[in-house]
Amino acid sequence: MSDWRAALDALPRERTWLLPALHAVQHDLRWIPSGALAAVAAHLRVPASEVYGVATHYPEFRLSEPGKRVVRVCTGVSCRISGGLDCLAALERQLGVRVPATAADGSVTLEPLDCAFNCSMAPVVQVDHQDHGRVAIQDLERVLSAPPSGFFWALADDLIAGRSSYPELVSHAQSRAYRGLTFVLAVGSCSLSVGAVETFAALTAEVDRRGLQAAVSPAGCSGLCWAAPMLTVIHPDGTTQLLPHTTADRIPALLDAALAKRVEPDPRVTDFLRRQRRELTSRCGVVNPHDIADAVRRGSYAALAEALAGRSPEHITQTVKAAGLRGRGGAYFAAATKWEGARQAPGSPKYLIVNAEEGEPGIFKDRHLMEGDPHRLFEGALLAAYASGASRIILYVHGEAHLSAERMKDAVASARAWGFVGERILGSDFSVEVEIRRGAGGFVLGEETALMESLEGRRAMPRPKPPFPTEAGLFGKPTVINNVETLFAVPLIAARGEKWWAGLGRGHGTKCFGLSGHVARPGVVEVEMGSTLRDLVERLGGGVPGGRALRGVVVGGPSGTVVPPRDLDEPLLPGGRVNPGTGGLVALDDTVSIRDVIRTLLDFNTRESCGKCTPCREGTARLRDILDTAGAPDGPSIAELAEVVRVASLCGLGQAAPLSILAALRDYPELA
Ligand SMILES: Cc1cc2nc3c(=O)[nH]c(=O)nc-3n(C[C@H](O)[C@H](O)[C@H](O)COP(=O)(O)O)c2cc1C
Ligand code: SF4
Repeated sequence: MSDWRAALDALPRERTWLLPALHAVQHDLRWIPSGALAAVAAHLRVPASEVYGVATHYPEFRLSEPGKRVVRVCTGVSCRISGGLDCLAALERQLGVRVPATAADGSVTLEPLDCAFNCSMAPVVQVDHQDHGRVAIQDLERVLSAPPSGFFWALADDLIAGRSSYPELVSHAQSRAYRGLTFVLAVGSCSLSVGAVETFAALTAEVDRRGLQAAVSPAGCSGLCWAAPMLTVIHPDGTTQLLPHTTADRIPALLDAALAKRVEPDPRVTDFLRRQRRELTSRCGVVNPHDIADAVRRGSYAALAEALAGRSPEHITQTVKAAGLRGRGGAYFAAATKWEGARQAPGSPKYLIVNAEEGEPGIFKDRHLMEGDPHRLFEGALLAAYASGASRIILYVHGEAHLSAERMKDAVASARAWGFVGERILGSDFSVEVEIRRGAGGFVLGEETALMESLEGRRAMPRPKPPFPTEAGLFGKPTVINNVETLFAVPLIAARGEKWWAGLGRGHGTKCFGLSGHVARPGVVEVEMGSTLRDLVERLGGGVPGGRALRGVVVGGPSGTVVPPRDLDEPLLPGGRVNPGTGGLVALDDTVSIRDVIRTLLDFNTRESCGKCTPCREGTARLRDILDTAGAPDGPSIAELAEVVRVASLCGLGQAAPLSILAALRDYPELA
């Protein structure tokens, strides 16, 4: 029996398994033939027409056979202004196809990609789902012929029979600590796209060749994507050295220098870290994401243990409420209010959904957090479930965020082995089950009710609200949905108290941003809320390269706006004049056409409109067409139409879609 048939047979015969079933087919065959669609329909007892409707709705599902290799070129704003479009044109010439198309001999499919979510490594070319970052035209030959490579780290067998108290788990973790010479390589989506696998192999081989008594271990990225691959050397005396740009060929020389302690600290690295307020990200780039013992030694699950040992769910909720934690998924809604609502709502089971869909071009901070410190997210999810009365956690991870999904899978498996998942956790009355689900593309899928529709096996189309998810969410049951970054803050607030968080960032805590585009140091940074774009783009990002002037900064992706240089000193605050949005910043130098950027954002929103409501479905397309055809667009009529779309659309996609053009008409007179 083929793999997908076996996987399908293993699934319960319920509609909720429709996306996992389609994923199983595509994983096995690389596409979904009509026969497989029929088999899925029959097994799940869903009408074939509806299965077809769902399969054609999600952009990642392929209903026609792709070429032997699939090459995709990112055309998101960060990549298109960094040479992505030139790469695409060069590949068209080289492969003899016009995008999107499969070569006549079936050897290759070439496609544009809205975003590879690896914006700090722009421009990105993907070959068979493997990212290649910082690609120049002269690299394309090498990129096309690169063998497939992936990073694999075996989980330790960590089932600790007979241990159930947290102090016992901590002492077990301590007993496994290695305090000798340690090499920690940052292995994240960013560094994997510039050779981290090769660096890791070269490092391990060199350590073996020299017979060094040393441990080599992976971590996530510390946000220094611009310096990737980044190696940290920890000496037995505690001295630490940070080595940027550790490519495989440099390993022998770098080891010589590191072992002799002759490495001069790179001031740009120290400066980049020192200027941040790294709280949520404090362990990213440090902790081994595949090793729960390492996470526990660094404090993971201590806040959960303390809560379960004697703090009521209401107490946790009150602490988070007093801290003022607001959701980082874009709307900045008070986290504790949702938890309270779900707890008080009738109905069971109750669900806690972790929204790790992150499908908005230019935003990649949630992936960074999950790759870097999955146990911090999982502890946050457990605490939120405890506070809101949820007994089911669903981690909903973007369909193409494979490294995030792998690391979350490992984290959940080892947390289960250590007794943090299941019945009566740490001997308390709290029981919870966990599942990981994957999306299949589409920006609107991240909208909370659309995401629930997809979990129920339907097209990702938002529901009208009310009822709100806390009253009637997934399967009509009380449901809390929180963003990854929101949940990252929870263990820290539970452990350090409400005053600590409320004392940061003008009462808003810290905020993570993905920094890309025309900056010298693209990466992921964490700063206090209320920091300015000047802090982020100039002081942290190192400013615009090549001495060029800044034209603007895209803040918040396709739901955001292009902020002009005159607002660089405005604090980024929820509800402020410049809203931080979800945390994507793309800097644009003075060579960039604002019209092209706005057109890219509008075009994306038009394609991503789910079509459920007319103002968004028709209005976004009209806005883009006016921009395209009018040469000098008619300002007032764009403004009128934009206002209708903003006010009359059902969900946040339509409501936010016109913001970029409205702001650009105001701030960039040449567009009007
Ligand atoms: C079009 C659209 C896309 C969204 N995408 C995401 C997303 O990828 N991740 C996310 O956490 N929230 C996303 N949201 C917001 C969610 O609907 C929801 O508000 C959020 O997950 C709640 O979590 P929070 O309160 O912790 O922010 C999106 C909203 C809209 C309208
Ligand atoms: S606003 Fe757009 S994306 Fe949202 S429901 Fe309406 S058509 Fe769908």
